[in-house]
Amino acid sequence: MLLAALYCLLWSFRTSAGHFPRACASSKSLTEKECCPPWAGDGSPCGRLSGRGSCQDVILSTAPLGPQFPFTGVDDRESWPSIFYNRTCQCFSNFMGFNCGSCKFGFRGPRCTERRLLVRRNIFDLSVPEKNKFLAYLTLAKHTTSPDYVIPTGTYGQMNHGTTPLFNDVSVYDLFVWMHYYVSRDTLLGDSEVWRDIDFAHEAPGFLPWHRLFLLLWEQEIQKLTGDENFTIPYWDWRDAENCDVCTDEYMGGRNPANPNLLSPASFFSSWQIVCSRLEEYNSRQALCNGTSEGPLLRNPGNHDKARTPEAPLLG
Ligand SMILES: *[C@@H]1O[C@H](CO)[C@@H](O)[C@H](O)[C@H]1NC(C)=O
Ligand SMILES: *[C@@H]1O[C@H](CO)[C@@H](O)[C@H](O)[C@H]1NC(C)=O
Ligand SMILES: *[C@@H]1O[C@H](CO)[C@@H](O)[C@H](O)[C@H]1NC(C)=O
Repeated sequence: MLLAALYCLLWSFRTSAGHFPRACASSKSLTEKECCPPWAGDGSPCGRLSGRGSCQDVILSTAPLGPQFPFTGVDDRESWPSIFYNRTCQCFSNFMGFNCGSCKFGFRGPRCTERRLLVRRNIFDLSVPEKNKFLAYLTLAKHTTSPDYVIPTGTYGQMNHGTTPLFNDVSVYDLFVWMHYYVSRDTLLGDSEVWRDIDFAHEAPGFLPWHRLFLLLWEQEIQKLTGDENFTIPYWDWRDAENCDVCTDEYMGGRNPANPNLLSPASFFSSWQIVCSRLEEYNSRQALCNGTSEGPLLRNPGNHDKARTPEAPLLG
């Protein structure tokens, strides 16, 4: 879908606006449509006084949407992020972020001028302490409220065009679950009607770039949370895997012997709660996922749609 590619491009150019800064969740910000929070280093919007960036009109690509989406003005994700904000921070040189407070990926230092190369490693090459540190970071992220971001629990219309903001706190980890839900959710058309044939991040050219950016942002949030500036997310190389060999209790969790959809009680993740899983319920309520816990994690790697993902390994 062209729409997906387009959306993904918008996301890559406006990484700061891909999610909702806490500082911009007020009715003032939403009704003025301006999201240019101060940078703590000098107190000026977008760190302008320090030359980090400035508050500017959002200029969107004028490329038309494809015929796949036969609506206009019904989905907050159209012409993102202009339904919510039409002025945001534009960051100079290597600065990045909703207030130009961070560095572009691959840079560090007070002026973001130092090049840095981080390497993602195969999860099976981590030592046991390294692997345990990774799991501890995940736990911390799952249990720490995001200081910088919140999630909207209603559409812009449900917020009365910004006058009654509807936002929830969310954990650093669940923020990314929510973003992944939000980009691929159905369009709510009112009266329990939905448009299902929409997804800005999957089954289209946008898939790889969108998820690449998503993982970079996730890595950056874990780095900020833990103070471990060198953290990288390990990868699972499943090219030759016959089975889901990370689906063990040492790693991502083995299968529950009593219920193939649940994790084994000995798994590190068996106490985790899932969020944003009840898509049909949200549709019928014409609501957004509000980030509340919806029960234990569900996973059944042997149960995926083989026609769509024929190469994905099974859990033996
Ligand atoms: C941005 O939105 C505000 C509030 O709706 C509006 O007054 C302003 O004209 C818009 N600016 C642009 C450049 O569209
Ligand atoms: C990150 O890696 C760099 C380069 O190897 C090193 O100088 C620095 O101390 C590391 N930082 C932390 C927090 O471990
Ligand atoms: C939050 O979402 C859950 C799950 O969909 C729902 O049961 C609950 O009523 C929602 N809470 C609010 C305040 O809307």
